[in-house]
Amino acid sequence: SSPGILQGKKILITAGPTRERLDPVRYITNRSSGKMGYALAEQAQKLGALVTLVSGPVTLSAPEYVNTVLVESAADMYDAVMKHIAGQDIMIAAAAVADYTPVHVQEEKIKKQNEQTELHLHKTKDIVASIARLKNKPFTIGFAAETQHLEQYALDKLQRKKLDMIAANWVGQVEGGFDSAVNALQVYWKNGQKTFTMTDKTRLASQLLVLIAERLDA
Ligand code: PMT
Repeated sequence: SSPGILQGKKILITAGPTRERLDPVRYITNRSSGKMGYALAEQAQKLGALVTLVSGPVTLSAPEYVNTVLVESAADMYDAVMKHIAGQDIMIAAAAVADYTPVHVQEEKIKKQNEQTELHLHKTKDIVASIARLKNKPFTIGFAAETQHLEQYALDKLQRKKLDMIAANWVGQVEGGFDSAVNALQVYWKNGQKTFTMTDKTRLASQLLVLIAERLDA
C-alpha cells in the first residue's frame, strides 16, 4: 500500500443496510453486512484520512480512530450524512440504503388476517444523489449493486446521480457482493474505467482508495 496518499483528507463513508420499520417487531432490510464500507473506512484511516463512517445496523465493531455514527433507517442515514457533510473532501456511498420505506409505521403489531395482504411503501431520499447536487460537493463515489446489465446500469447511475465515480459490483452470485469476505469491482468515471478482480474486501478497499486519490489529483 502507499501510506499517506490521503493524508489530512476528510472522507465520509456510508456502510451497511438500513432497517425500515413496519411495526414494533418487524422491519424491511437487505443482506448488506457492512464489510465493504468498514474496510474502506479502515483503509482510508490507514492512508492518513480523517474518516467519518455512517453505518446502518451491522455486527462489525467500529474501526479504530474512525468517527463512527450508527443509524437505523434510510431517513436516519440521510440526516446523519447531511449533519456531517460540511468540509468533507470525499464521500463514498457503500451502504445498501432501502429504496422504499413503509408509508405508515403501525403502532401495534400487525395482526395476521387475510390470505394475501399489501404493503404500502414510498421512495426514500437518495442520499448520494443529494450530496452530489450540493454546491460545495465533495468528490462523490457511489456503488452500484446489480444482478444484470452491470455496465449499463452503473453508467446510468453515474450520470443520473451526477457522481464523480461509480464502483459497480455483481450481487446475488456465489462469490462477492453482499455479506461475502471478497468482492470484485468495475469502476467507471467520465473518461475512464478500471477493473479490480475478486479479492478480499480489505485489499479491494485500498485499491479503490488509491484510484480515488489519483482521480482526486487529476
Ligand atoms: O455490506 P457488504 O455485505 O460488504 O456488501 C457490500 C455491498 C454489496 C452492499 C456494496 O459493495 C454495495 O454495492 N453497496 C451499494 C448497494 C446498493 O444499494 O446499491 P444501489 O445500486 O441500490 O444504489 C446505488 C448507490 O446509491 C449506492 O451508492 C447507494 O449507497 C446509493 N443510495 C441508494 C439509495 C438511497 N436512498 N440513497 C443512496 O445513497
